[in-house]
Amino acid sequence: MLQTYRESAPLELDSAESAAPSLPEILSALSFALDLTEGAVPGHALRSCLLGMRLGMELGFSPIALADLYHALLLKDVGCSSNAGRMCQILGGGDDRAVKSGIKLEDWTRPDRPKLSTMRLLWNNVSPDENPMRRLRRILHIGFTQHANNEEMIQLRCDRGASIVRKIGMSEQTALAVRSLDEHWDGSGYPQRLKGAAISPLARVMAVAQHLDVFSVEQGAVQAMLVLRQRNGRWFDPEVVKAAESLQKRSALWQQRSANGVQASTDPAKAVRAAVIALSPHENNRLSASHIDLICEAFAEVVDAKSHFTFRHSMGVTEVARNIGNAMGLKPERMQLLNRAALLHDLGKLRVPNSILDKPGKLDDAEWSVMRQHPGLTRAILSRVKEFQEVAEVAGAHHEKLDGTGYPNRLTAGRLSLEARILGAADIYGALIEDRPYRSGFSPAEALKIMERDVPGKLDADCFAALSSIAETSPSPEPVSIVAPGRCPSILAPAPLALAAARCN
Ligand SMILES: [Fe+2]
Ligand SMILES: [Fe+2]
Repeated sequence: MLQTYRESAPLELDSAESAAPSLPEILSALSFALDLTEGAVPGHALRSCLLGMRLGMELGFSPIALADLYHALLLKDVGCSSNAGRMCQILGGGDDRAVKSGIKLEDWTRPDRPKLSTMRLLWNNVSPDENPMRRLRRILHIGFTQHANNEEMIQLRCDRGASIVRKIGMSEQTALAVRSLDEHWDGSGYPQRLKGAAISPLARVMAVAQHLDVFSVEQGAVQAMLVLRQRNGRWFDPEVVKAAESLQKRSALWQQRSANGVQASTDPAKAVRAAVIALSPHENNRLSASHIDLICEAFAEVVDAKSHFTFRHSMGVTEVARNIGNAMGLKPERMQLLNRAALLHDLGKLRVPNSILDKPGKLDDAEWSVMRQHPGLTRAILSRVKEFQEVAEVAGAHHEKLDGTGYPNRLTAGRLSLEARILGAADIYGALIEDRPYRSGFSPAEALKIMERDVPGKLDADCFAALSSIAETSPSPEPVSIVAPGRCPSILAPAPLALAAARCN
């Protein structure tokens, strides 16, 4: 298998900062965000990493190939958010996360032989607001256009994933593996319909590893192995399947591991993460500050790619927050904290289906309840990184208000740091000047006018003054308008100010 493996230069790590996380620590924590996007059971990327590394070792991969495989397994779903909006469109406003999660258990290469479970999955999620006749018509249309849709969706995801992997300094082989994750051994996969040895060897291992995790978690290990055999030589490389069978026979495939004293029985996700970190090919070298920033930027792009309406929200909010921070004279270490918290503040939004994010109308109570969970999820993901505790606090508080009317924890002024206040103001401003499904973006002057009503009750007066002075002295940017021609024309009408202020997300 390794005859076709071309080793690229090993990942070079810059000189490290003390009190900085290592690459495995940060990637393993952020992999929980990628699980959210796919509707996967939390820890999917980590469990796939353990399974894939066992397979790689069984197949005799070199240390460099194993290092590439390790990174590719942790980042395999990094491009997934980029097709969520399109998926929601294809489903007629249905829940993209539910379908992405369910379809992993289906043989989607055979639309001519639809199974009852596939039909049930689509029936429950396609055009939820339409009458049964229209839903049926859309399901049939999805069936007829499946190959074209698959190609488009997987191409989007794989290209985006590979480009993010390159951006954060991973090897070309790692990028290639992420790009080829959905290719099948018999050429029935996407996006290039590669066949056999033409597929990256790492991708062939990753395909088996992710399959084993998804099926074993949902249907048990016996079923996972059964389906693996059924798809042997069709989806999967027979040599990798043989390696899985051999590990299974020796009871070394599903091996439960605990590491660093963390027992799987008390916190399975923590235990599996500790095991993944223990497998690190870089002996847990600390990262440089610039490399950490680069990873934060890459994940900000993952979040922004989830919806047309937020295509540069995290990056834009970061720019505004940095400008406010500079105007208020923050010290370099506080600026670094603010920068990272701003880039990652909406990480938890990866858990929100696009049927909610892109909804042109008002959210109902259940949808609001899902939306309001996102800052808490951001905080939970980031706090897994020991060195990111304060970043997690600041990022997780971006929807809190000084008077305690914010969410998720109704924190009041005494609990909100200056950085949290800056980020809160930057986030509202950023959201107001961007288009939303239910209104077009406001001009900077209009956005400030809307915000002014909440100063000083809900928003910090000094932060708002700094924001206003920046907006007055810098050239006025155009409102961020990204609604494609022909899409949701009704939403372009200016919204009443009250509605705009009510949904700043
Ligand atoms: Fe948010
Ligand atoms: Fe935001």
